[in-house]
Amino acid sequence: MDHFLYRDGMLHAEDVPLSEIAAEVGTPCYVYSTATLTRHFRLFDEALAGMDHLVCYAMKAASNQAILKLMASLGAGMDVVSGGEYARAIAAGVPGERIVFSGVGKTREEMTAALKGGVRQFNLESEPEMEALNEVALSLGVVAPVTVRVNPDVDAKTHAKIATGKSENKFGIPIARAPEVYGRIAQLKGLKAVGIDVHIGSQLTDLEPYRLAFTKVKELTQLLRDQGHDIIRLDLGGGLGIPYDRGNSAPPLPVEYGALVKEVLGETGCEIEIEPGRLIAGNAGIMLSKVIYVKEGEGRNFLILDGAMNDLIRPAMYEAHHDIVPVVEPAPGAEQSPYDIVGPVCETGDTFAKARNMPHLGADDLVAFRSAGAYGAVMASEYNTRPLIPEVLVNGDQFAVIRSRPSYEEIINRDTIPEWM
Ligand code: LLP
Repeated sequence: MDHFLYRDGMLHAEDVPLSEIAAEVGTPCYVYSTATLTRHFRLFDEALAGMDHLVCYAMKAASNQAILKLMASLGAGMDVVSGGEYARAIAAGVPGERIVFSGVGKTREEMTAALKGGVRQFNLESEPEMEALNEVALSLGVVAPVTVRVNPDVDAKTHAKIATGKSENKFGIPIARAPEVYGRIAQLKGLKAVGIDVHIGSQLTDLEPYRLAFTKVKELTQLLRDQGHDIIRLDLGGGLGIPYDRGNSAPPLPVEYGALVKEVLGETGCEIEIEPGRLIAGNAGIMLSKVIYVKEGEGRNFLILDGAMNDLIRPAMYEAHHDIVPVVEPAPGAEQSPYDIVGPVCETGDTFAKARNMPHLGADDLVAFRSAGAYGAVMASEYNTRPLIPEVLVNGDQFAVIRSRPSYEEIINRDTIPEWM
């Protein structure tokens, strides 16, 4: 459920008509709902009630400072994957002890920053990284809390580009090697193993792969404890999918996911961490865009929008479906026709949807891309020198620009001309 609903013939974000935001901020832009972000965080928090747990928002999904501050105020931890994300989490007031540091290529500089600023744990992804972190920690005179991200070789049944738990993927350490790696960690004075980490992929629409992975983690927990390791925490990653195509999909709910976690891992007595990103932010945001032209092509009509692949890359990158709806509610039974919905970028790949049935729209009509709150703004670029589009946060009947659109001048001034020219 989200808070983007038609009211009085107009799509609203909470109590704000999207036409009002378009008029004030301009299009294209991203619009997020505070109520939906809050609701989604709480769904996870409540799903794990009764277990010692921490919901670490995977901020890669949407990392605007205002969103992070909101999450922090709800008690969220953060899953970060770069020095930049770590700095964002700290800037948003998230205490270090609630930040988990993931990622396959953490640099020594990033490790240093997190050890100095405070960190809950590093999720180690390789043996060279383990040795490097040990050296960094020793040089700072501290002990780094770690988990090992194990690769359980489970098929997450999702898009190949976002599956991470198969043995051929670059992520984690093969689960069979884990006992040896924990043995080595026990010898390293700069590291202290506190748990196990697993993340098998994103946009999962079936709980079975989770059951397989969690069961393997449970077995490993027992094995490592038998070997004398103190496993107190399990980080289960993120990945729960959302219904991008509302008419046709109904992925499992956080409460069902939570029940599975309890069923499989409840008896371990471990503290549970989860790292959801998409489910928290995805349906809490839309991309608002405007029709520039309706173009009649050969055997097809094009809706040419002011939003493009640089603003929302998911359709071009993953063949992802986003529902695209008119902001003015179509009359019941209004005639529909198929349109290819495209942006202005000079690439055929700049296509959001092909032969999508839409009510008849004209120049200047507004449309909303649903489910665009996660992996939308954060993956945007300025390709074709199209400025990064603004982000707007709605809360009840108020809204605020939380990242403004850069001017052409600002963009140009980021470049510098060498002296010799
Ligand atoms: N934890 C780790 C270690 C991850 O790699 C990810 C996502 C998450 C948590 C959060 O997963 P979520 O709950 O959001 O599914 N750009 C792609 C998605 C990439 C996901 C990368 N890792 C997309 O637009 O579909």
